[in-house]
Amino acid sequence: MKTRDRLRIAMQKSGRLTEPALELLTRCGLTFRQSRDKLFCFGEGEPVDLLLVRDDDIPGLIAQGVCDLGIVGRNVLSEFQLTAGCELAPLSELRPLGFGRCRLSIAVPQELDYHGPQQLEGRRIATSYPGLLGEWLRTHAVDAGVVMLAGSVEIAPKLGTADAICDLVQSGGTLVANQLREAEVLLESEAVLAGSLTLPVDERGDMLELLLKRLDGVIQVRESRLLLLQTSRHTLEAVTRLLPGGPQPTLLSVAGQPDQLMLQALCAGEVSWRQLEEIKKAGAREMYVLPVEKMLV
Ligand code: PRP
Ligand code: ZN
Repeated sequence: MKTRDRLRIAMQKSGRLTEPALELLTRCGLTFRQSRDKLFCFGEGEPVDLLLVRDDDIPGLIAQGVCDLGIVGRNVLSEFQLTAGCELAPLSELRPLGFGRCRLSIAVPQELDYHGPQQLEGRRIATSYPGLLGEWLRTHAVDAGVVMLAGSVEIAPKLGTADAICDLVQSGGTLVANQLREAEVLLESEAVLAGSLTLPVDERGDMLELLLKRLDGVIQVRESRLLLLQTSRHTLEAVTRLLPGGPQPTLLSVAGQPDQLMLQALCAGEVSWRQLEEIKKAGAREMYVLPVEKMLV
């Protein structure tokens, strides 16, 4: 195969992951010129291009080396890993991305009084995920029939072609609309960055490393807050003890006030009013909670 010098990322052409995936890449400083056929998007600033495809095709494109990376649901990636032939390059989940959360679950008719996996023995379960369902059935020593369907899995029980289903659940609306209810959760899923286990050792590899660093920064920033406050030296310990997680705070002296310190701390998540009030009670004042825009560590 002809070697590429530009990194190529596969992502869903149109669907639940498309918008947040594009936003994430934009935050990483990547911009794209959309081509006429909208399948291939040329990257303008960095040597990174996009391929817009069906989500189920993404793992295969990476495994074949057509793309280096993919943004895809963990459900699709795991199913591929379980069902793809071993002659293909193994894939790995490089980063969880924190959006597109859903779960792969077994759902049964609402009127069924479900009380455990053994109740599925001898039943037919409709799914688009034969690999993940098969693995779960083996783990629970349940012998059930797997009815493979590419879509509209949720209507199978009503049509009489299956007794239960194994499908993605996000809000649960689809289940309710089809008089089904969740019985077992097989996999907690979200969008992930997928890549080959063997990364290229050339300019593409360097770009990939850079992209992963930016991505880590963007993901960390999304949750981070910078906390600024003043405290006197003798209340410092009490104040520090109350700081919500994160690395060691930075201390600066305050000009003309030898007893005072300015403290700066990166917090891993929200800082609530309740937390601020507690920290204040311990001796802090002049407190500010700031959002973080970019981070490079
Ligand atoms: C998934 C899944 C369900 C629905 C669940 O389909 O197959 O039909 O979402 O979501 P809910 O719990 O919020 O109702 P999706 O919309 O991704 O389309 P697809 O079946 O074509 O993949
Ligand atoms: Zn889909």
